[in-house]
Amino acid sequence: MQPYRIAVFASGSGSNFQAIVDQVQKGKLDVSIELLVCDRPQAFVVERATEAKVPVFAFRPKEYESREEYESLILKELQDREIDLIVMAGYMRIITNVLIVPYYGRMINIHPSLLPSFPGVKAIEQAVAYGVKQTGVTVHFVDGGLDSGPIIAQRSVEIHEHETADSLAERIHAAEHVLLPHVIRSLREGRVSIDGRRVSIRL
Ligand code: GRF
Repeated sequence: MQPYRIAVFASGSGSNFQAIVDQVQKGKLDVSIELLVCDRPQAFVVERATEAKVPVFAFRPKEYESREEYESLILKELQDREIDLIVMAGYMRIITNVLIVPYYGRMINIHPSLLPSFPGVKAIEQAVAYGVKQTGVTVHFVDGGLDSGPIIAQRSVEIHEHETADSLAERIHAAEHVLLPHVIRSLREGRVSIDGRRVSIRL
């Protein structure tokens, strides 16, 4: 099979980035992680990438006039590396058409709720506060809206009585670390098809 080159975008701890690295290192995910894009140069994910010998493009948004300006630099990095798939894993920024247009259908995001419930920030806290009994994890294609693109895969996570956002977050993250590599593998193997909003994964 041809190499499959991915870029991961993240802003924080990077446990999902690490889950991908671990699967690759164990030989369970046949992709090449070509780049980490990070908008917070001090984030722990940058250390993880350095440890894993993944090149990092880190930047400070405040140093640019507009989103489009720094996204154009990111786009150049992606094109130079012939990236096949962008994986947004905790990248806490709105993105623009500079990236969406060239990568539509080749850019995915992981979100810690069962979308369309609880989009946006603090999805885990939102679910606890609302009192739902089930929440979960969604991986979806990225479009121009807030966590609104076509859904590729979801896993549910039960919310226990007396649950706190912290205790729930642990189980949500565990589910993410399984689901995200699973979806990347399915895309890599060409088993994902998209028809408008409806996405299917062939076994
Ligand atoms: C995850 O919960 C992901 O769903 C959300 O941001 C969090 C990132 O966590 N978009 P990590 O940095 O991968 O540990």
